[in-house]
This record gives sequence, structure tokens and C-alpha cells, in this order.
Amino acid sequence: PPEPLVLGIETSCDETGIGIVRGTELLANIVSSSMEEHARFGGVIPEIAARAHLEAFVPTLRRALDTAGIELRDVDAIAVTAGPGLSGALMVGLSAAKGLALAAEKPLYGVNHLVAHVSVGLLTPASHSAGSAGGASGMASLPENTGALLVSGGHTEILRVGSLTSDVQLLGSTIDDAAGEAFDKTARLLGLGYPGGPAIGAAAASGDPTAFRFPRGLTMPKFEGSAQAPGPHRHNWSFSGLKTAVARAVEQFEAAGRPVPVADIAASFQEAVVDVLTGKAVRAAREHGISTILLGGGVAANQRLRELLAQRCEAAGIELRIPDVSLCTDNGAMVASLGAQLVAAGIAPSSLQIPADSSQP
Ligand code: KG4
Ligand code: ZN
Repeated sequence: PPEPLVLGIETSCDETGIGIVRGTELLANIVSSSMEEHARFGGVIPEIAARAHLEAFVPTLRRALDTAGIELRDVDAIAVTAGPGLSGALMVGLSAAKGLALAAEKPLYGVNHLVAHVSVGLLTPASHSAGSAGGASGMASLPENTGALLVSGGHTEILRVGSLTSDVQLLGSTIDDAAGEAFDKTARLLGLGYPGGPAIGAAAASGDPTAFRFPRGLTMPKFEGSAQAPGPHRHNWSFSGLKTAVARAVEQFEAAGRPVPVADIAASFQEAVVDVLTGKAVRAAREHGISTILLGGGVAANQRLRELLAQRCEAAGIELRIPDVSLCTDNGAMVASLGAQLVAAGIAPSSLQIPADSSQP
């Protein structure tokens, strides 16, 4: 059968993303972000995000269709993020998707945002010449024993992905702040602005990562247990203690009237986050027989994370896949990619009554 042509819609946070794929071939990925409108508040304001999606939706859709060189009537299905995410933001994308599906008489697939982040790993750039290399028939599929490390402003999770359409298992997650949230809060503490991830990364480049020994949450024996008796948080993370430790360090310099060593603190903070993220992900992978790790989410843009994860995966004999940064942060192509997998697997479409599910697991 021909590979499905799918339109994907993502509006769960502050990015309005529309992507178009044919099977695993990426045809368009257009993202309009309201990040700058949230910057002065130091975080995403749900009401502003929802209104921004409403304004950006049609122009973003138009650009995606033009980029792919198709019309809405050409697509085989429409996929949209149904959750998790901000309710109002999700509802804009879902409502738009339902309207398009109804008007164009296309099947609608409401999909899980986190599984979509993983599905993006299947995409390959569009081949512009017919019969180009790798033009084997059939869609590419996920390697056996795949795991995913998802690190963004909203989620920090290690998953075992048996099948994108039917078998995704949570192995561990943060018990408080997400990794990206920790970057954002720490950047605010250091006066580095929003979003904090890129700002910390830049400041850290000229700092000493060993200047401060910040805590690695949930790595004590009582949390990890032994191999025979796993602790309750063996594969979980915690970043709130780290945030407090950074605040204490800053306070101490300020109280002593000394300049805050921003670069050293940023580098030491980044090292603590990256150390515990990569250490626990690789261990969870080993214990669960995972041989390929896919890295996704906005924090995957972090250079030090990419470097240390690559080192530790290599040492453990695990294959690492890191998609292009534009596919790691929130986008519509990942939603389209998962939609294409669902269509190809013969899964029934969603009802047009499908609700937004902000806390979908
Ligand atoms: O996946 P994403 O675009 O949106 C969601 O949260 O779903 O991730 C955004 C997060 C923000 O917290 C941002 O600070 C973080 O990713 N981030 C980074 C970097 N670039 C973005 N964190 C660390 N280093 C970076 N270079
Ligand atoms: Zn995301």
C-alpha cells in the first residue's frame, strides 16, 4: 500500500507546529513560537499561548501545505496532539483539527505528545530524486529494544518503546521539576533570562563544571537500592534539591558582598543535571535490555548532554540516536509521524468528540 500522507498538528505548549509526512519521509515542518511573548513573565502563560495558537494556526498551516506542495484534500489523515499539555492550548489545536477533518472528510487521530516525541526518530529528510538510495519498500520501523530519553520543559522520562502504536512503558521520570524547568528556574536565579536552557548553556561554556559540587538527586543508596532490591526511585530523577543548592550558593556570594560567579555556577549546575540524566538513563537501558536510545525534547539541544550521553552510551554498547534540534523541540512533524504509524498499523481513527486530556500519561 502507498505510504500515508499525514498532516500533524501540535499546540500543547507555546509552539504552534504543523508538519506533513509521507510515511517516514518528512515533507514540511513549520513552527511558530509564542516564546518571546512569555519571556517577560519568565515562563509560559497558558492564556497567552492559547491565543497565540489561534492567531498562528492558519498561516502556519498554509506555509506547511505550500512547503510540501500539497492541498488539504490530498492528505490521508489528520493527526493532532490530544495531551498531555496545557488545556486551553491543546483545545485550539484539537478544535482546528476537528474542523479540518470534518470539512475535508479525513480521519482524525488524537495522539499522545510524548509518544510523538519518540516517533520523530523514524523520520528521514524528503528525498527529492525518485528512486534515491535507501528507497526500499515499506516504512522504516523502530529498531528492536528501543528506549527514549525525553527531556523538555514539561517532561523528563525514560521510556521503553516496544511499539509506537501499542506498547510504551514508563521506566522512570522526574518526581518534581522537569529538566528544562530546572534550567529555566536556575537561569532566572542567575539573572540569565528566559528560556533558560540556551542561556545556561552559553554561560557554562566559559565556566568550570567542577567549581561547585551540586547534588545529584535520588542517587543515594536508600533511593537506588541494590540490584537485588531496587529502591523506589531507582530510575527516577529529582531536581528540586539542585535548584535549592544553587539558590544557597548565590545567596552566600551576595551576603558576602562578592560577585556571583555566574559562569562557574552555570557550568556546575549543567554538569549536575547532565550527569544524573545520562547516568540513570543508561542504567535503566541496561537493566531493561534496551540497545538503542533515542534522545528527544528541548533539552536535547544541550551540547554537554549530547556529548556525555554519547560517551556513556558508547561505553555501555548502546546505540544513540539524536534527531535534528528542530525535531527535538515541540513540532508538528512528530505528530504527523506518529499519525502515519497509526494509519499504517490499521488503527481506527479517533472520534470527533475526542477531548483534550491535559494530564494524559
Ligand atoms: O521540548 P520543548 O521545546 O518544549 C516543552 O517543554 O515541551 O523544551 C523546552 C525546554 C525549555 O525548558 C528550555 O529551557 C530547554 O528546553 N532548552 C534547553 C536548551 N534549549 C532549550 N535546555 C538546556 N540546554 C539547551 N541548549
Ligand atoms: Zn514536548
